[in-house]
Amino acid sequence: MKKVLATLIFTAAVLTLSAAPATPKYKDPARKTDERVEDLLGRMTLQEKLGQLSQTLLASPADAMAGVKDGSTGSFCCVKSHLPSVADRNALQRAAVEQSRLGIPLYFGFDVIHGFKTLFPTPLGMAASWDPGLVKQAAVAAAAEGASWGMDIAFSPMVDVSRDARWGRISECFGEDVLMNRRFGRACVEGYQGTDLKNKLSMGSCVKHFVGYGAALGGRDYQFTELSERALRETYLPSFHECIEAGAVSVMSAFNDISGSPASANPFTLTKVLRGEWGFRGFVLSDWDAVYELEMHGIAGDDAQAAVAALSAGVDIEMKTKTYISTLEKSLAEKKIDIKTIDEAVRRVLRVKFDLGLFDDPYTDESLQKTQIKTDEKKALSRKAAGECMVLLKNNGVLPLKGKERNIAVIGNWANCLDIFGWWTGAVDERDGVTVMQGIAAAAPKGTQVINGSMGRMMKPEVAVVCVGESGSMFGEDHNRSDITLPWGQAEMIRQIKERGSKVVAVVFNGRPLALEEIMPYVDALVIAWHPGSESGNALADVLYGKVNPSGKLPVTFPRSTGQVPLFYCDRPSGRPDKDTYIDMDAKPLFPFGFGLSYTTFDYSDLTVAGNVDAKSEATVSVTVTNTGKAAGKEVVQLYIHDKVASVTQPDKKLIDFTKIELAPGASQVVTFKVTARQLEILGRDLKPVLEPGEFDVWAGGSSESGLHALLTAK
Ligand code: GLC
Repeated sequence: MKKVLATLIFTAAVLTLSAAPATPKYKDPARKTDERVEDLLGRMTLQEKLGQLSQTLLASPADAMAGVKDGSTGSFCCVKSHLPSVADRNALQRAAVEQSRLGIPLYFGFDVIHGFKTLFPTPLGMAASWDPGLVKQAAVAAAAEGASWGMDIAFSPMVDVSRDARWGRISECFGEDVLMNRRFGRACVEGYQGTDLKNKLSMGSCVKHFVGYGAALGGRDYQFTELSERALRETYLPSFHECIEAGAVSVMSAFNDISGSPASANPFTLTKVLRGEWGFRGFVLSDWDAVYELEMHGIAGDDAQAAVAALSAGVDIEMKTKTYISTLEKSLAEKKIDIKTIDEAVRRVLRVKFDLGLFDDPYTDESLQKTQIKTDEKKALSRKAAGECMVLLKNNGVLPLKGKERNIAVIGNWANCLDIFGWWTGAVDERDGVTVMQGIAAAAPKGTQVINGSMGRMMKPEVAVVCVGESGSMFGEDHNRSDITLPWGQAEMIRQIKERGSKVVAVVFNGRPLALEEIMPYVDALVIAWHPGSESGNALADVLYGKVNPSGKLPVTFPRSTGQVPLFYCDRPSGRPDKDTYIDMDAKPLFPFGFGLSYTTFDYSDLTVAGNVDAKSEATVSVTVTNTGKAAGKEVVQLYIHDKVASVTQPDKKLIDFTKIELAPGASQVVTFKVTARQLEILGRDLKPVLEPGEFDVWAGGSSESGLHALLTAK
């Protein structure tokens, strides 16, 4: 009897098991990503596939629910004005995972540009630190805050090299130099993504705007760019390549036309280079409306043509507009697009979602915010970063403040205001900043009267800290300026204060390089503060009182006049170098790329070059740096080269390496750079990298216009 019973139970168990559906491969975390992708792809309907290629602007979670459940939305672009709570974000995710047919999770993207709730200096300001390690730390902090809010991918870093100060978005990149954008772009990708994309405090990167966006005609956002393949490969592509090599999971295609082929429908950049040459396996997301805007560019006559042009060129997901989801089924039927192209785009999207861990762990732990948002450590890091980014451009000895000043007046638009977060303000709570007045009042020693605002203009304060600049709404996207001098009569205010007899410390809160020549005769010290973020006032007080010795260096050239723009250090030689001028002014910059002062001085000596460079060997360049002043300080040691004779003209100077060192007063350090063939290679006439034998000028110094010179040979 027992045997019969056992057999019956066994049989029932086998029948039950065989009747239960096997777990689909794509839901099995033990399987390899590509296997899971293929299994899922094979189960998807065409509409579900097109849904994964459609990113919706998230306005109201309730209104968005339907598109999630029917699979017509695969991801969301979140904006500050409608940032979902973590609960709302999880509710949308739950609808996707538990109520849609295949349970494909969403991803949420957000502009984490220089912080999320704790804001750091704007990217151009962060570049002024010349400290990729610091920028990486800031990216780690930003990702922890963003991820704890349920954001999965940061629409960042922006690595569009820009040399036009009129362009509002120069504030978002890491300056005019290729190497700087490469190094800081990499730092951001590594900071956001960490070593484990599934880590609940990391975020994926979406490096942008691919490509050439910073070369907009006239510095006017969205205008066309006239770029040769050489210009793309020498100047605009390398920073993206670096970020792809750093592991960026996605790329955002740009708005601009590239010499007749818009960036969001450009098979050369999006497929030949990005996929074919670089082997990028992540996905390309269009910028806002950029697919639809192909109709404005005139290469598409309607939504269907725009969708086919973008998708077939290599744009996998359409942001905000709905040409993909609404026209591709018909275009497929009309054989204007191939299902293989659609499937490959879907593969890329699914692969990233698997890699981010969204299939296996799709929800955000709502308790993370308590331990991650606006922590003291992140505020301290923001304060440190802001201090490292400030650039001292003039100082006749008034700084650092001695602490014995009877009175200090804090004057100007930024004395008491919190317009310190730049144009992209993340998810910052505007009241969360520290004003200049607060920072100085907190730092000033007892007995120093800190006078606020306009009172200081009427009196004759011993020191006037005059806080001027441009507001966060005067730069950033679609905020270009035809005149990059100080607005609103601020220069005249500085002159009047100086003529009343005070010592004037001008502090500039700027998004872009500004033309500051007119204030130079009236300032005893000049500090470039950028838009320094949450800890603005404290960081500035640290610098003014010498608690932080300024070590920032300009990542962009500061011109004398708007008329000089575009102006940058690494331009190609002229056939008449002595004729580089205007009839009405000097053509030289007011302050060159790489320039910045300190409260101490540094001397360079003993520049030596050991060995030659060839395909198998590298040279060693050494220089001794000595702190010849009385204060400890940091110095950015910069290494530049010039290829004296080449088959293609080369820049007068090109930054090939830099390092930031700290020296006590009187201390010296031998700084050594290895110079490899790759750093000396040029793109030959065939646009292929080549090391051409010959002599190179080499300079080591503290800016692009100073330093010791030697010669280096490539064999
Ligand atoms: C904007 C910007 C882009 C941003 C995106 C989403 O238009 O060009 O940088 O990431 O839309 O906000």
